[in-house]
Amino acid sequence: MPWTRRHLLTLEELSLAEMEQIHSIAAVFKRALQRGVKKVPALRGRTVVNLFLEPSTRTRLAFEMAAKRLSADVISFDAAHSSTTKGETLRDTAQNIQALNVDMIVLRHAASGSPLYLSKILNIPVINAGDGAHEHPTQGLLDTFTMKEHLGSLRGRKVAILGDVLFSRVARSNIYALSKMGATVILVGPSTLVPHWFTELGVEVSHDLKSALADAEVVMLLRIQHERQVSSHFPSLGEYTSMFGLNKARAAWLNPKAIIMHPGPINRGVEIDSDLADGPRSVILEQVTNGIAVRMAVLYLCSGGSPERIPDGSD
Ligand code: CP
Repeated sequence: MPWTRRHLLTLEELSLAEMEQIHSIAAVFKRALQRGVKKVPALRGRTVVNLFLEPSTRTRLAFEMAAKRLSADVISFDAAHSSTTKGETLRDTAQNIQALNVDMIVLRHAASGSPLYLSKILNIPVINAGDGAHEHPTQGLLDTFTMKEHLGSLRGRKVAILGDVLFSRVARSNIYALSKMGATVILVGPSTLVPHWFTELGVEVSHDLKSALADAEVVMLLRIQHERQVSSHFPSLGEYTSMFGLNKARAAWLNPKAIIMHPGPINRGVEIDSDLADGPRSVILEQVTNGIAVRMAVLYLCSGGSPERIPDGSD
């Protein structure tokens, strides 16, 4: 199937076939990353700019690693020492970057819709690396890639997403991806952070942790995002943890083979206890590793790479 998209903005707009195509190319790149020579020549001569105007560890480093493994040149924008601190707008910043003749922009921004906006005013591909509370498409793709590695097909699998769903772009991207892949998604947390209207997205909503976790094959924890909350959505962190924090006793409600996921950064002792985050059921660091291959696939396809002839360095 030919790839027709120039940008990756949301998983809401991606079809199941497109997500599966990204996953199958990510699997090829993952194998290439396990060889002695990890670089492939797919984006030789191209330049990718990481325009991160919100803090990031995993996503920024994984995009940088992905572009380097594809043999592209990478420039990571230093927001703290840039002219954005003098009031330069996103539009002017992005247009000046494009004027430097770069080939692709990866954008993280606190404003929902900012990647869509750039995609309309620039002539180069724009990849959404997380926009406000809207979407984090590559996170949804790497999360579902990791789930498939452990569970095979996600059709009929029960996935519980626990925590601050209201402000979570990770939750939204996973909801769109998992629903198209046929999983049963149940959102759980306090009603202030998991409002009933999420059922309009075709998922279940629960405020009862025990029934939500019962027999789930995946539990995905979400961080409490203080930076996006304008008022308090629960009395205190201690009370949140006592009601919804994942500990050993509560993890026993899960399917015995369930995997534990978290997009990071983790608030240890708040949404998850350390012995679970670091335990044998945790795939949190696998998610990070898979983020490289998945982002390689996205950069490759959006730069016009052929899905049929993937330069994986094997010839
Ligand atoms: N998962 C994620 O987006 O982490 P960072 O904010 O560190 O990129």
